[in-house]
Amino acid sequence: MPANPFYWTVVKFFLVNCQDFCSAVTEVISTTKGNTMATTDLSDRRVLVTGGARGLGLQMATTMAGRGAAVVLADLDAEAGAASAANLVAQGHRASFVHLDVTDDASWTAAMPEALAALGGLDVVVNNAGIEITELFVDLDPANARKIFDVNVVGTMLGIKHAFLAMRPEGPAGQGGAIVNIASVAATIAFPGIAAYSASKSAVDRLTRVAAAESGRLGYGVRVNTVCPGLVPNAMGAQLANDTANLGLFGSPDEAVGAVVGLTPSGRLATEQDIADGVAFLASADSSFVNGVALSIDGGMGM
Ligand SMILES: NC(=O)c1ccc[n+]([C@@H]2O[C@H](COP(=O)([O-])OP(=O)(O)OC[C@H]3O[C@@H](n4cnc5c(N)ncnc54)[C@H](O)[C@@H]3O)[C@@H](O)[C@H]2O)c1
Repeated sequence: MPANPFYWTVVKFFLVNCQDFCSAVTEVISTTKGNTMATTDLSDRRVLVTGGARGLGLQMATTMAGRGAAVVLADLDAEAGAASAANLVAQGHRASFVHLDVTDDASWTAAMPEALAALGGLDVVVNNAGIEITELFVDLDPANARKIFDVNVVGTMLGIKHAFLAMRPEGPAGQGGAIVNIASVAATIAFPGIAAYSASKSAVDRLTRVAAAESGRLGYGVRVNTVCPGLVPNAMGAQLANDTANLGLFGSPDEAVGAVVGLTPSGRLATEQDIADGVAFLASADSSFVNGVALSIDGGMGM
């Protein structure tokens, strides 16, 4: 053990100031991380985002466009989609809208050439379009469960199909690329009232891995990953909180949100930007050896 009194002075100083020091380091790390994320260049990426008219999909498209990507917003809602694309163009970005119903194979067949023409190729498809219907098992309407599976599972599978057809070597884009599927923290935890939604998002997680394996086996050069977002306080997130309260699962929407935050080590809800940053990472060359994973962006809720 060192006898030098100076040694103990230094140790004592460190212990007394440890908390400030650790906070300062944490701040430096987070600032540096933020800068790194913000400067990831996507100007060589041509991106299609389903459900891009609003919400998370629009934030993903806006974030990638802000880093130089050309983006197509593909959505069922033509009015909101066209307005969002025009807004991005007005901000100086390369953006356009294509009408798409993700559940309809023929709609994909029509939308893809349009998107390819607008983008001049295709490098990234984000299968983000999704719906949620909150329902207790005892009230289950099979039509609602089928609708959720149609959009969230079949819609994502058709997105993978048409992305592969376009981006594999013999496709019209032909240079490989990346697919990012949007699942949910609901794929990794059990929250009451969202059985069909949770099951559909678990399916997205699993089919992502099968798609990555198939792409590798057949030499498509397309990486396929999933993002599992935590609860975001946007239209869909607020609806979930209201619905679970109305079904008597929680005393109020605030109590439902409190339950989510209470299960989250980071102690807050997700922001749309948290999710968009992760999607931009999986779309970029920074993740070129990341394949077949589910990236949880949920503050630790689903660990
Ligand atoms: N909001 C959250 O808290 C949250 C959390 C985890 C995961 N997610 C997932 O993120 C994705 C986006 O969620 P959001 O909060 O932005 O929802 P949102 O309802 O705000 O937006 C969904 C978009 O998808 C479009 N859409 C719906 N059905 C479609 C179809 N058949 N074809 C084409 N477009 C269609 C809608 O028109 C809309 O523009 C969804 O897959 C959702 O399940 C959301």
